Amino acid sequence: MKFLILNGPNLNLLGIREPDVYGRETYQDLEKLVADTCRQENIAFRCFQSNHEGDLVDQIQQALGDCDGIVINPAAYTHTSVALLDAVKAVSLPTVEVHISDVASREDFRQISYIRAACIATISGEGLSGYAHAIRLLKAHLLSNNLPEEKTL
Ligand code: DQA
Repeated sequence: MKFLILNGPNLNLLGIREPDVYGRETYQDLEKLVADTCRQENIAFRCFQSNHEGDLVDQIQQALGDCDGIVINPAAYTHTSVALLDAVKAVSLPTVEVHISDVASREDFRQISYIRAACIATISGEGLSGYAHAIRLLKAHLLSNNLPEEKTL
């Protein structure tokens, strides 16, 4: 099993960026948490962060045939990007949306998520540990979907 872990704009500045909202842990801490979780769960992974929408679309497209699922924090593109929604729909890979902060309790403009329509779940407000939650949830989803039919009854 292999996952693409995708992070959008400004998440490279974790630790520096609005620490009261996003905490003091850095993007490197996030990569370590992802690596530790994937090792424990026996999942191969590829981690990618970009500030550019098209690069994120390219990564989603490249996951086709390479990855079994996607964990994505589209950051600000959550609230603006039909291109990311279309990319996830196009590859049709199970995808979990993650937000470090609790977006539901923030500004009105953060209440729209385009990508949510293509995701199996959204995890929000759990800090960096939300990524570990997302990885485990995605693994459980894939395992339950791959059970032989008699075992799903
Ligand atoms: C975020 C929430 C978004 O609204 C914001 O634009 C981000 C980060 C989060 O992880 O809480 O950049 O996705």
